[in-house]
Amino acid sequence: MLTWYRRHGRSLPWRQTDDPYRILVSEIMLQQTQVDRVLPKYAEWLAKYPSLQALAEAPEADVTATWYPLGYNIRPRRLQTIAREAVARFDGRLPDDHETLLSFKGIGAYTAGAIRSFAFRQRAAILDTNVARVLCRVFVGSGDPKTHAMKRHLWALSEALVPHKDVFDFNQALMDLGAMVCTARRPKCLVCPLAKSCRTYPFTPPSTPAR
Ligand code: ADE
Repeated sequence: MLTWYRRHGRSLPWRQTDDPYRILVSEIMLQQTQVDRVLPKYAEWLAKYPSLQALAEAPEADVTATWYPLGYNIRPRRLQTIAREAVARFDGRLPDDHETLLSFKGIGAYTAGAIRSFAFRQRAAILDTNVARVLCRVFVGSGDPKTHAMKRHLWALSEALVPHKDVFDFNQALMDLGAMVCTARRPKCLVCPLAKSCRTYPFTPPSTPAR
């Protein structure tokens, strides 16, 4: 998977940094918005608010206006709340441990794992919709990755799998595999680096009932 990622993975601006703030902004933007729509806004946002301090000090109306047209207006406010909390509690920095990250309003298990693995290069697991689908197909084979019980199982799998070395590439690779190869509808199993060990290979689309 790492070999595949280094050859075919996407080159994205939040992969060229280890600044926790830049990672945080990308992950919040990517929560409900596609990569190609995030890209221009990400650059604009960082030009306007280059640090947690700058974001914390900006007027809320500006922050919401800058976010437009990404949608879900709760996200820019959430981001600013995190920035203000980081300034008030940690001198304008994001902490690097799981529990303290989770104590922030607006940072959940996924975002904490992303910040720890992408910014601080710690051995931390992630699980979002794409990663859950990949792990469910490869290791479980059947079942719905969206159920609570399955998510618990998949978190445990993700934690067991994440390597000591190359955490950054490993987690980004899982995401790219989910976004580019192991897609929801028509996975490209023929080019998948995990095909040989995949419980769902070869994927057959659910048949539509005959009428
Ligand atoms: N979606 C969520 N986080 C991502 C990342 N770091 N790269 C690509 N897509 C993502």
